[in-house]
Amino acid sequence: MRPQGLSGAPGGAGASVPGALRRHRRLGSVEGSMDTLTAIHTRRSIRDYEKRAVAREMIADILWDAAQAPTTPVSGPFLFHVIEGVARIADLGARAKQYAREHRSDAHAWADRSDFKVFLDAPVVIVISGHADNSESIQDCNRAGQNLMLSAHARGLGSCWVGAPMPWLRSPQTRSELGIAEAFEPFAAFTLGYAASVPPSHSRERPQIVWV
Ligand SMILES: Cc1cc2nc3c(=O)[nH]c(=O)nc-3n(C[C@H](O)[C@H](O)[C@H](O)COP(=O)(O)O)c2cc1C
Repeated sequence: MRPQGLSGAPGGAGASVPGALRRHRRLGSVEGSMDTLTAIHTRRSIRDYEKRAVAREMIADILWDAAQAPTTPVSGPFLFHVIEGVARIADLGARAKQYAREHRSDAHAWADRSDFKVFLDAPVVIVISGHADNSESIQDCNRAGQNLMLSAHARGLGSCWVGAPMPWLRSPQTRSELGIAEAFEPFAAFTLGYAASVPPSHSRERPQIVWV
């Protein structure tokens, strides 16, 4: 009889190992992955990307990692839109910038900067949407976004959270063009790709802690 338990199968993934743990074990062998604390402390926003495409399998794995973020019990699943292609994304970024110019507020001063690129010439953009009628969705999507960035970094990719395109992403025309269903609202967007350069690490001040 095949031995039961975690060490029960050749290769370490026996029938008795719960699915989640089995997946976790597979992750442990991802080439180039790093431990959680290293990922947290060494991630930086990447604003300079190689043009090369990212394999869809890798993107799907990162989105699966993102979807492990904690959610409120009533939350529905996330919806991820993946846009690929440097030229196409640059074109969309120019439209997002134009949209910001036409619907300006003080927060959109960047729209007048000729050197400002909304999507940073990245080869991939990911938009995370949540259920529009759930007030927790924005926080759920933000937590998924943090997971996404750490996962990307741990897997050897760079990412940057981009708030600049959000007003444009929420416009009816963009939503319909990207196929964002009415029941969903886009809450967060990210560039993704292989980093051409990485900014130097920055020191953050230790947070204030009140021990009670
Ligand atoms: C909600 C949010 C929106 C952001 N929007 C932009 C953006 O539109 N463009 C950009 O270049 N960086 C953007 N960033 C990245 C921040 O500038 C960056 O995280 C911050 O400077 C800290 O740097 P680090 O991520 O390298 O630690 C955004 C970050 C957050 C959390």
